[in-house]
Amino acid sequence: MNKVVTGLILYLVGFAVFHFGLFEQVILKMEEPGVLLNRYSYFLLFVAYCIGFNIILKLKPPIALNGLIVWLLGAYFYKVVLFPPIPWTLLITYMMLWTIGTFLYISQDPVTFAEFRKPIVKTVVGEYKVAQYVVFIALPLLVGFATYKSLEPSFAEPVELRTVHPAPPATTKVHGKSYTLEGLQNPFRIDEQDNYVDGGPGGNALPVEGKFPFLDADKVEYMKSVTEGGTIFFENCHYCHGDQLNGLGMFSHVFNPTPANFIDPGTIAMLRESFLFWRVAKGGPGLPNESTPWSSAMPPWEEHLKVEEIWKVILFEYWYTGWHPRTFDEESASGGEE
Ligand code: HEC
Repeated sequence: MNKVVTGLILYLVGFAVFHFGLFEQVILKMEEPGVLLNRYSYFLLFVAYCIGFNIILKLKPPIALNGLIVWLLGAYFYKVVLFPPIPWTLLITYMMLWTIGTFLYISQDPVTFAEFRKPIVKTVVGEYKVAQYVVFIALPLLVGFATYKSLEPSFAEPVELRTVHPAPPATTKVHGKSYTLEGLQNPFRIDEQDNYVDGGPGGNALPVEGKFPFLDADKVEYMKSVTEGGTIFFENCHYCHGDQLNGLGMFSHVFNPTPANFIDPGTIAMLRESFLFWRVAKGGPGLPNESTPWSSAMPPWEEHLKVEEIWKVILFEYWYTGWHPRTFDEESASGGEE
């Protein structure tokens, strides 16, 4: 068999065994790599194998092949073996130095350099017909095609990754106290008759004439809490959420995502008060990962408001907009989801 082919096969088999067998299965999974048996010494063993079989089998590979293998070993080392991984700018810098080094190795004396140049010259002058076609026709076409592909604009819609209303946690800790969100109700909502749901237990969530508690001016206690909540809102929230609660506060335009519009049926109208409690207390920093990548400017209000104040401002937001919070009864009756 041709010596070059033998060499290539041995390189490929050796690399496959080293990379897919040893490196990925054993070396990467080692708990505590020792001083001797770490990834670098295994890599040196692989290099020794590459040199070793050439010497033992007296393959005497052409200098161009040697240069290529040396270059590839360097690339493999910097890209895969070296740990921790280096930034790509550094990788390019190292590879440039490595390329220069490889070139110096090839051109170390006139004989090896002439040998290295021989196939290149033969390709250029047309002695190697197939190589000439590949280099001068197929390669430029391929590069042109790749460039075209990378420049071609894509019209696919961007993926909407952010979940606007993420699943709330089961419990949330506010001012040192843990609250279980499931079943948590606004303590200021329940009126003198303990009516949380309009129209009694299991009742109708839609505003019913005469039964709608929100605008009941005769509910003195309730309206007192609403008024206090309104004061808190105008002291803290309207800069962003707007003095008409439409999300168009004076600072709203600089934020992405924009402050929630509470008039919109897509925000507080379809949320539970316990959800709002969590959101107001924890703000943007309390959002789970699925609500990234955009960072929310919503402040964590537990740092400024007492627990009762949070409940009151929530009460005010519903009272002002006329929405009814989603209730736990409603959910179990309809089995619906947000
Ligand atoms: C610095 C601006 C800013 C201030 C001040 C602010 N918010 Fe927000 N708020 C936001 C932004 C931005 C969002 C939308 C992104 C998000 O959901 O976190 C938001 C979202 C919310 C939501 C979630 C609505 C939903 O549909 O999920 C609630 C509830 C809320 N704010 C209540 C309040 C309350 C109550 C106050 C005052 C105590 C307040 N905010 C003050 C910026 C602000």
